Amino acid sequence: MSDAVDRVGELLARFQQEREGVASRQAWEALKGKYLNREHGLLPAIFAELKTVSGPEKAQLGKSLNLAKREIEEALGLLGSEVERIEAARKAASRVDVTLPARPRPRGGLHPVTAMRRKIEDVFLRLGYSIADGPELETDYYNFEALNFPADHPARDTQDTLLIAAGAGAPGHLLRTHTSPVQVRAMKRYGAPLRIVIPGRVYRKDDIDPTHSPMFHQVEGLLVDRGVTMGHLKGTLEAFVEGVFGAGTRARFSCSYFPFVEPGAQVDMSCIFCKGSGCRTCKGSGWIEILGAGMVHPNVLRAGGIDPETHSGFAFGMGIDRLVMLKYGIPDLRLLFDNDVRFLAQMAEAE
Ligand code: PHE
Repeated sequence: MSDAVDRVGELLARFQQEREGVASRQAWEALKGKYLNREHGLLPAIFAELKTVSGPEKAQLGKSLNLAKREIEEALGLLGSEVERIEAARKAASRVDVTLPARPRPRGGLHPVTAMRRKIEDVFLRLGYSIADGPELETDYYNFEALNFPADHPARDTQDTLLIAAGAGAPGHLLRTHTSPVQVRAMKRYGAPLRIVIPGRVYRKDDIDPTHSPMFHQVEGLLVDRGVTMGHLKGTLEAFVEGVFGAGTRARFSCSYFPFVEPGAQVDMSCIFCKGSGCRTCKGSGWIEILGAGMVHPNVLRAGGIDPETHSGFAFGMGIDRLVMLKYGIPDLRLLFDNDVRFLAQMAEAE
């Protein structure tokens, strides 16, 4: 056997070894070029030697070259489709499917107390009211004294709170027990006529339980003008319950006592669940107590610098948290202050 024929055999063996490592289109192209390229391929180089031999030697070399060529071509063909598959799999693994729906992002929502506060504000803004506020750390004077609760008045007992002792030259303060102190502050600041709602936090010495919290939220309302009557108060609160809880909700007044109003009233709304026929929420009565109200006491108008001979007014105050619990059927007040996102997410869905 000629030397050239041997080299064809070696070439073939080398090719078989090298093709093992080929796993990409690039490597396949390189392998194909290395063995078959017409100009610099290893096999065409030996083909060129055919010209230099003759006779039976030529026939033998030609035969082995042709066999080798066919073998390499066939192997490259198979390897080619194998490489195609590998490339396709690689592409699929790294592909981003832009047609897939986006992953949902966690979405925030308004806290139910905020949502209710805004709803209440909206109703009164439409009735021509403005929004006011005042300090949570209040003086005894505005929280009680100016509201006609003298120092030894028994009504103070119903609103116990945290007191901050008077220091040298500093008056005693307390955490306000209601939003009513802003009534006198606003009258002094803005005078009459006046039409405001005052949302805010209030504090009382209450142990935490499903219906009590030492901090809760109220909205106060105050209207002062000439010739304001109880009729105006009634019409306003009827508009309020319908505005917040829907058409057909009614308001009912009964006598009640607060030192800073005269006459004073407790206001109930018709039960939003049974529409007045009686259910568990309204304890069978058809009515739910929602706020305190009344005509501003002459002493309070005076404390606010307004003459009770020329002006009169009405005021009302309600707990926002209680309204939220009612609206969503929340059995425990504490859920509103725990800030558990699972609870808040449910509330966002309920909106
Ligand atoms: N401030 C009273 C309370 O917290 C509610 C109220 C406000 C009553 C205005 C009458 C008028 O209980």
